[in-house]
Order: sequence, then C-alpha cells, then structure tokens
Amino acid sequence: MTADEAKREAALKALELVQPGMTLGLGTGSTAAHFVRGLGLRLKAGLRIAGAVATSEATADLARASGVPLLEPGPETRFDLAVDGADEIDPALNLIKGGGGALLREKIVAAAAARFIVIADAGKRTPRLGRFPLPVEVTPFAWPLTAAKVAEALRAAGCARDVLSLRYKDGAPFITDGGNHILDCQAALIPEPSALAALLDATPGVVEHGLFIGLAHEAIVV
Ligand code: 5RP
Repeated sequence: MTADEAKREAALKALELVQPGMTLGLGTGSTAAHFVRGLGLRLKAGLRIAGAVATSEATADLARASGVPLLEPGPETRFDLAVDGADEIDPALNLIKGGGGALLREKIVAAAAARFIVIADAGKRTPRLGRFPLPVEVTPFAWPLTAAKVAEALRAAGCARDVLSLRYKDGAPFITDGGNHILDCQAALIPEPSALAALLDATPGVVEHGLFIGLAHEAIVV
C-alpha cells in the first residue's frame, strides 16, 4: 500500500464516524482532502449535516467543489467531529502539525471540537516529536527578532537542535491564510513538547505553533 492509499483508507475510516446533523471541522493537507472528497460523496448519496468549517482556503475551495456546506463559526459553534492530518504523532497523541501552513486555523478548530480525530499513514508515527521541522507562525513584522527568541525557546526546552528557516514558496516568503510567515524549526528531538509549547506561547510575535498537545482524542493510522 502506498502512503497515499493509507491516507485515503484512514480518511474513509473517519468518514464512518460522521452522523447526520453533525457540525464538522475539516482539516488541511492531502489526508484531510481524502476525507473532504469522501464526505462530498456521502452528501451526494443523501447524508445531511449541519455544516462544516474549513481550516484553510484550500480546504474551503475543495469543500465547495465537493458540495460540502460551509459555515462561518460563531460564538456557540462546537464541532461534533473535527478530522485532520498530522506531520508527526507521538504515543501520547501529541502532534506536530502545520506542514501545510494551516496550523492556526487547525488549532482553533481542534480546540473547539468535542472529538478531534487525527488521520494519517503509518509514517507519521514517531516515538518522540521533533524529527519533522516544527512550524511556527510568526508576524511578518520583526520576524528575525522573533526567530531569535524562538531559537532561544528551543534551547531552553532542551531541544537537540535550534536551526530555523523562514519558509519560502515560489521564491518569496510563504504567507499563511492569516497573512503571517512560517519559521520551520529543526529541533531534531523535542524532549518535553509541553515545555516548548509554553515557551512559544509566551513569545511575542509567535502567532501560533504546530505543537498540538492534548488536543487529539484518537488517531486513525493505516
Ligand atoms: C497542514 C497540516 C497537515 O495536516 C499535515 O501537514 C499533514 O499533511 P498530509 O496529510 O498532506 O500528509 O498540518 O497544516
């Protein structure tokens, strides 16, 4: 089975959890895209849901093309089920996310979900987080200053490395859906993910980071 076939199978298993009337959170990336396309097929076959919120403009476009009704989140919005991919999953279901640059909206949706399910191919499992470069979303303003503080945080949290690079796309700094930049942080090993998360949360200029600690309820890994 290829990694993409495994991603699709994980997405199809998550689809079995969708019940009529649910409000859904839709993740971003190639695995989440399988879920959105599969959801579209189930809707065409007669399933009715309250609606869904997409975690990126790319997912919103795919949802619209697949016939998935989209909602604007309000103060009372709670997701019965949010389904998203991940870049790394540790045994405690702590995650690194944001490889696709959508970590901010992904975390907002995951934090508002009664049930947040991660779907992935087996290559995403790891005994310890950190091999995948940790995405950190930062304001464009003074980003080099913020990058120095982020490197300090990596060192203070005992990470094995503290090498940061500004993400580029098509020859220019990558811009997130929120208008920010991404620092990809090569930590090699993050010994205490929650300690690093707390330091990053306290760093001015950091809008959000890709450590999802204690948010995932289940992982469907194929
Ligand atoms: C996007 C993400 C993705 O869920 C993550 O990068 C996994 O992507 P894929 O499903 O394509 O392997 O966090 O910001």
